[in-house]
Amino acid sequence: MQLELTTEKIKADIEIILVNKKIKEDTTLLENLGFKGEDDEIALLAESKKLYVGCTQNDAESIKIAYSNAIRKLKTTKFKTIAIKVEKDLKTVVEGLMLGEYSFDFYKSKKEKEVEKEVSLVVDKITKQDMLDFEEANIICNAVNTVRDFVNTTPEDFYPEVMAKKAKAIAKENNLECKVYDERYLEKNKMGAMLAVSRASRHKPRLIHLAHKPKNAKKKIVLVGKGLTYDSGGLSLKPADYMVTMKSDKSGGSAVLGIMDAVAKLNLPIEVHGIVGAVENMIGGDAYKPDDVLYAKNGKTIEVRNTDAEGRLVLADCLCYAQDEIKDIDCILDFATLTGACVVGVGEYTNGIMGNNDTLNNKIVKHSIASGENAALLPFNRYLKKLIKSDIADVCNVASSRYGGAITAGMFLENFIEKKYKQKWSHIDIAGPAYVESSWGYNPKGASGAGVRLAVEFIKSFK
Ligand code: BES
Ligand code: ZN
Ligand code: ZN
Repeated sequence: MQLELTTEKIKADIEIILVNKKIKEDTTLLENLGFKGEDDEIALLAESKKLYVGCTQNDAESIKIAYSNAIRKLKTTKFKTIAIKVEKDLKTVVEGLMLGEYSFDFYKSKKEKEVEKEVSLVVDKITKQDMLDFEEANIICNAVNTVRDFVNTTPEDFYPEVMAKKAKAIAKENNLECKVYDERYLEKNKMGAMLAVSRASRHKPRLIHLAHKPKNAKKKIVLVGKGLTYDSGGLSLKPADYMVTMKSDKSGGSAVLGIMDAVAKLNLPIEVHGIVGAVENMIGGDAYKPDDVLYAKNGKTIEVRNTDAEGRLVLADCLCYAQDEIKDIDCILDFATLTGACVVGVGEYTNGIMGNNDTLNNKIVKHSIASGENAALLPFNRYLKKLIKSDIADVCNVASSRYGGAITAGMFLENFIEKKYKQKWSHIDIAGPAYVESSWGYNPKGASGAGVRLAVEFIKSFK
């Protein structure tokens, strides 16, 4: 799809018109078709070259969904040029179109896209703000769609080395600093938790570190992502039905790569670091085991009681790495498909936000929702903290109760946050929205690119 911003009233093959219940034109025709202008209704009047879409609410999310419905409807048609009159909400319109149009057909021998669409967004006059909004929405949506591609790619084609290659390509394109470390570095730096998780896989781990360092940066933000390119559960093997979709366990790390791409292209005046632990969790004679005690980078010992709680082990070492290698951080955020419990708690469409500092947590919830990503705060408490105590090590990788699993996982991570950063860190569990097996709103079936819009909106607030 090609999008352009124009003031010319071009002759397009078809025009998309949003209808808010009150139908003004083509009334009889639409009435005959049973179109009432309700949400999710759509009517294609090929002869009058109009596509009507229902949209009963005026909020940004409803508008995005309506445009996404429209572009999906047109996708399989032969119409090439599309016009949309845009009076307001330019960013919202672009987002609905770009995120709604996405589909993943890499592995299909016949591609869905018939003709590349040319969409003209027609405005009265193009202001400087319009140009900025148009550009920004393009950058963010491209980043989201790139993340969707990464996550949808199979574990056979997307393993830690590939993830590192993708990171290098993003770095090269955007002039980012880029370091990629292999298992020798992990060994030398005593990152025993991440190493243990990676050990049984034929694909060796990679620690990825990208940095956007503008001159006179106002703040320094560090993003850490769980990049499990596959999570079989390890020796605590997942049941067959639960293993399917676990290619999506790299969503946090993929989001971090997408965020770095967007932050660089938007040229935000903030120093941003993106750290990804890229690992595959497999079984085998060399696998780490329930009963093992691991040594994390900060010297803390971890009793392993379940090898399927591997994300927190990888993140533990990556969080330590971040605090050791980067000085005077203003804010640390981690992104992870960490727990099924988070999905049980808040549903598939919502991010879980956790941490010690509720002012920071609430700020993230606010910006997440403003960006179009649902989010809810899951509060830590002293009683849940006791559930991850271990008899033989400093901490246990699973809680002794099955209740509150998203929060106990978050509280486990807190063990790897230094005292001076306790109030500056938040954990974002994207296990629900990162990958949903049916389409929802403008998100397709599969990967949604969760975390990208949330983070960009949050980081922008430091400008
Ligand atoms: N990657 C999973 C969490 C997950 C589950 C993400 C479903 C997306 C959808 C994680 O590594 C995991 O397996 N967690 C376990 C933890 C348990 C063993 C304490 C879980 O949630 O069951
Ligand atoms: Zn797991
Ligand atoms: Zn996992």
